[in-house]
Amino acid sequence: MKRRLEGKVAIVTGGGTGIGEAISKRFAQEGAAVVVVGLDTDPVREVVDEIQAHGGRAIGFLGDISWQEAAEECVKLAIHDFGKLDILINNAGVFPATSTIDKYPIEAFEYMIKHNVYSNFMMTRAAIPYLQKTRGNIVSAGSEAGHMGIPQNSPYGGTKGFVHAFQRGVAVEQAKFGVRSNIVGPGPIDTAWTHKETGPMTAKMEKQTVQGVPMGRRGTPEEVANVYLFLASDEASYVTGATYFVDGGVTLSKGPHGDEVPSKLRQEPTNGLDLQHERDGHTKVKSEYKATMS
Ligand SMILES: NC(=O)c1ccc[n+]([C@@H]2O[C@H](COP(=O)([O-])OP(=O)(O)OC[C@H]3O[C@@H](n4cnc5c(N)ncnc54)[C@H](O)[C@@H]3O)[C@@H](O)[C@H]2O)c1
Repeated sequence: MKRRLEGKVAIVTGGGTGIGEAISKRFAQEGAAVVVVGLDTDPVREVVDEIQAHGGRAIGFLGDISWQEAAEECVKLAIHDFGKLDILINNAGVFPATSTIDKYPIEAFEYMIKHNVYSNFMMTRAAIPYLQKTRGNIVSAGSEAGHMGIPQNSPYGGTKGFVHAFQRGVAVEQAKFGVRSNIVGPGPIDTAWTHKETGPMTAKMEKQTVQGVPMGRRGTPEEVANVYLFLASDEASYVTGATYFVDGGVTLSKGPHGDEVPSKLRQEPTNGLDLQHERDGHTKVKSEYKATMS
């Protein structure tokens, strides 16, 4: 049977950890040649090796793709090594702080503008000419927070609101060139970001985050990757400008309905992918990748 991305070439930004690791591995499993993109502190080399060990095709690109030069180099690497570009997955992002707005660190706000907004814009801008040649597509990481109001997360939600609006514009503008663009809006996913030990959430916030999900649990990176796979594949040939929430129902819900879910239904499905970097994600301002815009 033909695999769902056989013969396709995909760039996955933020592909070394969390949801991006799962997208990279799922796409490779379905036959895509994958450029795994991350910062030089991310486990990109490991993910490439793990994909190759399972018989997949992958190369790594280390660089800060919020910069125009790095974004263009990244796209050129895909063209140089794999000959074309069919799919751009704009998954890279950061979640460095939670706080009410009066105390929200300006440094964290600038850091998110750089890594959540500039990265998406620069990669899209650099990739479009090549996606027009293949009638390819883009799938970008939005968020529940880009759609709903979430206390102590409004600056992060604002950066994701940009992604939602920007990529809807790209979808309409680029339709006449045969290029599709869609958004995946994850709810709380089981990565470094949603655990108090590895991210900026307090214990109370972490508890409320899961309680607010009607399905009573976090999603897994693989459950999110499966939706990216559909949107990036030719099966979604009539889908553009859409936002697919992968959120256990949280964007529809009011109140702590998750508490009513029996514990056996709260079990995460077992992981079919060999994920090694689910909790290695980017949840702090790192001085080497700080914004220089202020
Ligand atoms: N985890 C969640 O609950 C959740 C919920 C909603 C949306 N999302 C979105 O999904 C995406 C992935 O989240 P995750 O939880 O897997 O996080 P993660 O931190 O595990 O993965 C993000 C990766 O992107 C990389 N990155 C960031 N900026 C970069 C840049 N400029 N250049 C290259 N690499 C860069 C990071 O270093 C990191 O490896 C993010 O865009 C996030 O906003 C996540």
